[in-house]
Amino acid sequence: DTVLILNGPNLNLLGRRQPHIYGHETLADVEARCRETAAELGLSVVFHQSNAEHQLIDWIHEYRVDAAGIVINPGAFTHTSVAILDALNACEVPVIECHISNVHKREAFRHHSYVSLAATAVMAGFGTHGYVLALRHVAQLHRTKGD
Ligand code: DQA
Repeated sequence: DTVLILNGPNLNLLGRRQPHIYGHETLADVEARCRETAAELGLSVVFHQSNAEHQLIDWIHEYRVDAAGIVINPGAFTHTSVAILDALNACEVPVIECHISNVHKREAFRHHSYVSLAATAVMAGFGTHGYVLALRHVAQLHRTKGD
């Protein structure tokens, strides 16, 4: 059982980019924590980052039926991308939208999310721990489905 964890634009700079907002952990640190948690939950993780919208869409297509769930931090595409929304609407598995910062406390343009229209659940403001919590929730949903 695989959980797809996707990261959108600029998240490759995590840890160096606006650390007062996003913290000092790098994306590699986040990936390591997700892998630890997944191992504990008996899940495997596919972890990707891209600055390109089409690449994120292609990964969503690849896993839209076969994953236990998808955790996605779409970065700024959250607020702009109907194409990512459409891809997520084609998913038959739970989709957790995950933001490191509390987007609702920030600029007004971050308050609207296209992605939320397709999301099973939304996390914001949990820092990088949000990924781990999202992963635990996917595991929980997956177990419930199997019962
Ligand atoms: C973000 C919030 C977005 O508004 C922003 O464009 C990002 C990161 C977050 O994780 O808090 O790139 O998704």
